[in-house]
Amino acid sequence: MKLSVIGCGYLGAVHASAMAELGHDVVGIDIDARKIDQLAAGTPPFYEPGLPEILTSAMASGRLRFSTDIADAAGAQVHFIGVGTPQKAGSHAADLSYVDAAVQSLLPHLAAGDLVVGKSTVPVGTAARLAGVIEASGCGASLAWNPEFLREGFAVKDTISPDRLVYGVPAGAAGEHAAAQLNEVYASAMAAQTPLIVTDYATAELVKVAANAFLATKISFINAMSEIADVSGANITELADAIGFDNRIGRRFLNAGVGFGGGCLPKDIRAFTARAEELGRGESVSFLKEVDAINMRQRQRVVAMTLQALDKPVYTAKVAVLGLSFKPHSDDVRDSPALDVAVQLRGLGADVMATDPQGIENSRLRHPQLTYSTSIEETLRAADAVVLVTEWAEFKQIDPVWAAALVRVPIIIDGRNTLDAAAWRAAGWIYLGLGRP
Ligand code: UGA
Repeated sequence: MKLSVIGCGYLGAVHASAMAELGHDVVGIDIDARKIDQLAAGTPPFYEPGLPEILTSAMASGRLRFSTDIADAAGAQVHFIGVGTPQKAGSHAADLSYVDAAVQSLLPHLAAGDLVVGKSTVPVGTAARLAGVIEASGCGASLAWNPEFLREGFAVKDTISPDRLVYGVPAGAAGEHAAAQLNEVYASAMAAQTPLIVTDYATAELVKVAANAFLATKISFINAMSEIADVSGANITELADAIGFDNRIGRRFLNAGVGFGGGCLPKDIRAFTARAEELGRGESVSFLKEVDAINMRQRQRVVAMTLQALDKPVYTAKVAVLGLSFKPHSDDVRDSPALDVAVQLRGLGADVMATDPQGIENSRLRHPQLTYSTSIEETLRAADAVVLVTEWAEFKQIDPVWAAALVRVPIIIDGRNTLDAAAWRAAGWIYLGLGRP
């Protein structure tokens, strides 16, 4: 099929490349000329494992091209909207200006029978409003909402082999037609018996925010338990293992630590709360404010633990920060707890040196006041305390005996509860985890 993908960020660039890899004829469109130039040259503007490979092979096949001109969407039968919906400045609500602008700019290029497919995460009610805009234009196209569940770091796999598909479609024949078009787009996932839910717009929009709200709640739940573990001497990792064996609970997303970040979970729970308030049902999801508060508290907790562990005033200390990206396998530092901890410590006067396998470039753009190093050895050298805040394999593999010889004081704050506490203590370290004796 001929597809267009409007917005070539983390979501759109992967979607465009994966759809072309699956055999479709795809044009990826973005207003950011630099991004388009990089993609057209076969170099993704961000780190995503597996993306360079499918980008290169799809472009070599001739099925994938990139453009800054929305007119190039003309002729495609299905148009995916994958632009960002960041948090609005000065508010918790989502900024829909990019989604609105994408749909407006697409309208003149739509033909009767075309399907516009929203993939961006939006407040419930957006799809119905946009369907009205498309209908009023008289172009004869229709709208479906098809939320995306990909995780950064696994985006290629999650797009090519999703764990479920959700189509929000209008009622009646138009909805059947839209579902049939999407089934053709996702023919390979259909052949693999991927679970499919065909539903209305509101449900499709809510599925996405509810899923992210649930994941965020799970993480804040275990972090709240880890606060109790801290004061009671319990072990949060063993607790998570034990409750995780209950299939109804499950072990995934129960890792206590510095908390969640990234471009999705934090802003999605805030936008959900703001939308519920607009709908007069703020109290229904007011617990998400607590989820957010618990999450933000973890960053303070790691900073406070560091200050307490230091044997000298913070403004005279060198603190080595291991991790900047919001999670491993990503260079994304949007709302990253790791970068936040580094910035807070710097703000308190510490001489912060931070390292990360992929996150340095993006961090430097936002926070040039920090010192960055690509070398773990240089980062650790003469440190008065070490703070691990992103659980990259490179950090988990550090030999504590080797590291102890580099630092001035062997204190490690394991903000991801990821190190072998016994091995670090045996090497002479003061090891401090979160809710972990
Ligand atoms: C998240 C969802 O997992 C995806 O399903 C969704 O499609 C995506 O948002 C989105 O809305 O686009 P992502 O932001 O890539 O994906 O990251 P996650 O893997 O969910 O991790 C989020 C944060 O939670 C990270 O900072 C991670 O370190 C943290 N986390 C995760 C924990 O602190 N503890 C855990 O046990 C798990």
